[in-house]
Amino acid sequence: MCGIFAYLNWLVPKTRKEIIEILVKGLQRQEYRGYDSAGIGIEGSNSIDDPYMMTLIKMPGKVKALEDEIQRNAGQLDFSRVFDLHVGIAHTRWATHGAPSVVNCHPQRSDTNNEFIVVHNGIITNYKEVKVYLEKKNCVFESETDTEVISKLVKYYYDRHQNMSFRQLVEHVIQQLEGAFSLVFMSSHYPGELVASRRGSPLIVGIKTKVKLASDHIPVMYSKGLEGVHVDSDDKVRRGSSFNPDRQSLVSISEVPATPYVNDNITQVTTLEGHEVEYFLASDASALIEHTNQMIYLEDDDVAAVSGGSLTIHRHTSMKKKDQFATREIQTVMMEMKQIMKGCYSSFMQKEIFEQPESVVNTMRGRLIPKDGTVVLGGLKEHITEIRRCRRLIFIACGTSYHSALATRQLLEELTELPVMVELASDFLDRNTPVFRDDVCFFISQSGETADTLMALRYCKRQGALAVGITNTVGSSISRETHCGIHINAGPEIGVASTKAYTSQIISLVMFGLMICEDRISLQPRRQEIIEALGELPDQIREVLKTDERVKVLAEELYDKKSLLIMGRGFNFATCLEGALKIKELTYMHSEGILAGELKHGPLALVDSNMPLMMVITRDQVYSKCMNALLQVTARGGRPIIILEKDDDETKKHVEKMRYIEVPHTVDCLSSILTTIPLQLLSYHIAVLKKCDVDCPRNLAKSVTVE
Ligand code: AGP
Ligand code: GLU
Repeated sequence: MCGIFAYLNWLVPKTRKEIIEILVKGLQRQEYRGYDSAGIGIEGSNSIDDPYMMTLIKMPGKVKALEDEIQRNAGQLDFSRVFDLHVGIAHTRWATHGAPSVVNCHPQRSDTNNEFIVVHNGIITNYKEVKVYLEKKNCVFESETDTEVISKLVKYYYDRHQNMSFRQLVEHVIQQLEGAFSLVFMSSHYPGELVASRRGSPLIVGIKTKVKLASDHIPVMYSKGLEGVHVDSDDKVRRGSSFNPDRQSLVSISEVPATPYVNDNITQVTTLEGHEVEYFLASDASALIEHTNQMIYLEDDDVAAVSGGSLTIHRHTSMKKKDQFATREIQTVMMEMKQIMKGCYSSFMQKEIFEQPESVVNTMRGRLIPKDGTVVLGGLKEHITEIRRCRRLIFIACGTSYHSALATRQLLEELTELPVMVELASDFLDRNTPVFRDDVCFFISQSGETADTLMALRYCKRQGALAVGITNTVGSSISRETHCGIHINAGPEIGVASTKAYTSQIISLVMFGLMICEDRISLQPRRQEIIEALGELPDQIREVLKTDERVKVLAEELYDKKSLLIMGRGFNFATCLEGALKIKELTYMHSEGILAGELKHGPLALVDSNMPLMMVITRDQVYSKCMNALLQVTARGGRPIIILEKDDDETKKHVEKMRYIEVPHTVDCLSSILTTIPLQLLSYHIAVLKKCDVDCPRNLAKSVTVE
């Protein structure tokens, strides 16, 4: 989920030292995307036995640790050697499979001779299938990563079909992969060449030349007959989910240009032949801008290859849209570096809020199969019977992570039919809460390092309970010390205020609930309803994000107020607490989440026409109770701003014009995901208006490693 960088110089002499500096700088520029380890792969070694062997240098920790490791290797590498043509690849890792360690760092290699190496961002969801296959073919795996299947698979093809181009080999490989990836490959069999591809994860090519590029587009070449795309009898092309690389004929591979080009302006970058050129590849434009502003944003399933100093872009014919001349634009990017790092967003928090349509997909990717109605959480599979038999489920966390457990408690009670306790880690410890051997304790933490949660984990383990981790950070203390767990795969979260991790935590817990009751016949209609709703969620989140402008107007009304009460009940009570936490931590304004059922027991006394109020109302089991609360509030002169469902005309009758935010309707147990997002946006806008530091609120830290 972090950063890839690659550099190829063609007829531009560079010393090894300069090349390494470019690679390391490329990683540093992307460090903000999160990292737990880093590595580079460069051509050549100083070994007398094999001077062409590629060199890998890898190190857990920050890019600085990698830099130090490179210096330690300086004696073994001739730093002053000059290369007219050279390829190097680099990677900062945010682990999804296997803790940060030297062997798990990228580049991942095909074999101990480093014949093929690859850097990868993303997750390969069918890696187990591929691994089992390759193991049967005597491949020996050394890392725990999903990525290693890619480097092994490319060599597997090479060993059998050495007449193929590097690019063709990679095209074969990606046809066999499922999941999300951006990849850059290099090989000692194809020196001076580089091949890259992406699906789901970003990848940008930067081009630097002294001569003016002949065109601002390059055409896409179409290749047909690739294996892995199995053609069914009815001629429907489907991607091979049943991995079987030997089934298809490899000789059928051929290339055809998409169409004869009518437009003379459309030229390949091959026109640069004989000219000096440098290519830079990165996950993010911020790493490219200091070298060039000429960039090509690759699209899903593009395969970009540089060979003989020329860049070409290829795709499989099945990706060709009818009558379409596909080209990739060489864009002139005019942004400042800082601006690019956050994209078009002013802060990481805002970026992370807007990433949610994608991050929720990453959480579900490869786990939820809607058409079969199955949910497989690989990290829990072996313990699921034990969990089903337990005495009770205890969810322990702090802050936002605690709210994710509150948001799902009702559903988990319904689907597991077990008693569910939700605990704040600090309070749980203060009480020396009784825990038993047949309890299952969940520890939810974005960072995986929160001290209170970690201490509670150690305490529960001492009592003999099964410990399950739900974290966003592979290799974190909580993920290491728990017996099993779920990685939420939300991608690195940089803003101190947790946003996308929260929605991904909720989805992970919902998936856990679905998995545990998969063989309960009476629950199948409910499961199906939730699974379908999960599929619709990304688009619905996009729709909620469109309320941003409206939320901003409301923020202007609220930003100079002293307090904000947020009321709701049922599945949306967690939204109220989470919204109030966001407002407090970002805007330093008092805010309180109130259970609407408790209004008459005290908080109603606060309500008058001057008290800023918000309510969250969705059409679920507690709808009429929420309406009662609304009437009680309006009867006291209260003027609440309401988060409500799009077609809820009934509630709208009781709200003043424009004082509501609409969200789409979803199944009750997922509504809190949609209702939280307007509150994330609201806290962000109020913070901006109050000139607060959005990404680093005062007195707070992203990872609270002290009690
Ligand atoms: C959320 O916006 C806060 N920064 C905070 O409440 C956070 O959720 C809490 O500190 C727990 O962190 P964790 O998920 O990394 O354990
Ligand atoms: N899934 C890969 C791994 O765990 C890549 C993770 C990343 O995107 O950094 O090694």
